[in-house]
Amino acid sequence: MEPTSNLTDSMDLAETLQKVRVDALAAIAAAVDLEALDAGLAAAVGRESPIGLARRGLGTLPQEERKDAGRRINEVAAEIESAASARRIELREQQRTAAIEADAIDVTVDYRTLPTGRLHVIQQVIDEVCDIFIGLGYHIAEGPEAELGWYNFDALNTPPDHPGRLESDTMYLDYGRPEDDLLLRAHTSPIQARYMEDHDPPVYIVAPGRAYRNDTIDASHLPVFHQIEGLAVDESIEFSDLKGTLAEFARQFFGSDTRVRMRPHYFPFTEPSAELDVSCFNCEGTGSACRVCKGVGWLEMLGCGMVDPNVFAAVGYDPDQVTGFAFGMGVERLAMVRHGIDSIRHFVDNDVRFLEQFPG
Ligand code: PHE
Repeated sequence: MEPTSNLTDSMDLAETLQKVRVDALAAIAAAVDLEALDAGLAAAVGRESPIGLARRGLGTLPQEERKDAGRRINEVAAEIESAASARRIELREQQRTAAIEADAIDVTVDYRTLPTGRLHVIQQVIDEVCDIFIGLGYHIAEGPEAELGWYNFDALNTPPDHPGRLESDTMYLDYGRPEDDLLLRAHTSPIQARYMEDHDPPVYIVAPGRAYRNDTIDASHLPVFHQIEGLAVDESIEFSDLKGTLAEFARQFFGSDTRVRMRPHYFPFTEPSAELDVSCFNCEGTGSACRVCKGVGWLEMLGCGMVDPNVFAAVGYDPDQVTGFAFGMGVERLAMVRHGIDSIRHFVDNDVRFLEQFPG
């Protein structure tokens, strides 16, 4: 495009520059960001802008006017450029402030918290019982939940025709020849046999874990429940050691006034065998109008006895060298008695209103 020639008229130049100046300063002041500012500046002083064209048109002016026109064009251009620089600084500062504001954290905004978990009441009872026995010098032992028939029954002096071996009582994973039956252990007692096989006497262990029985669920039965097994084997362990140990456990778990009594019972793997009752902590054994012991004054707690010599022989111990006692308690039962819980189902319902009552 040919540069405009009307610059020959100095009045036209003055008007053009004035209009360019006013428009450019307005556009610069109105620019909301750096892009708009650059566009405004190019429109006013760029190559194809009125000022650019005026500069290119200078050559067409007579020599004597050229200098003055050039000076006037440069003055206006300089004014526009310096206004643009000032606006540029302002816009950069605004941009920075906006970025900082966008990044800011509002510490007053409400935030969500996740509820803190806690140990299940059953795990709490396991930990507490184990702690008591650790205090008496016992170690913790564990064993597999999928167990061989040998450890669950045979090593524990349980004859092949024992009713507990029926499929109606025990959950079998593989029901084949009796010697390699694979089953879900029906009690924690196989841990005794495994431990004695691997360790020489003396033995003082407690073994917590899950046990499985083919029971229908009701207020006091679950097909999956927890037991804690105890075993002490040494050179001269007597029945009084068993009673003293369990009495001490009962006092620590139920309170220092707790008394214990034993009733004869039968287990294949202990001889003699007994059930241990503890005096009711709620009515102190009086039984009067007591909802915990239902007026009996005593609470059935666990099975126990002196280890049968056949068990020692099965695991390679010399029954003439060692004696021992064993006991097994149901963890759900302990928790129900301790906390006055009326149904075993609460432990597996996963109702937080129940679980939250045992903060641990
Ligand atoms: N294993 C027995 C049961 O499940 C409990 C028990 C353990 C009894 C050890 C005596 C000795 O009923």
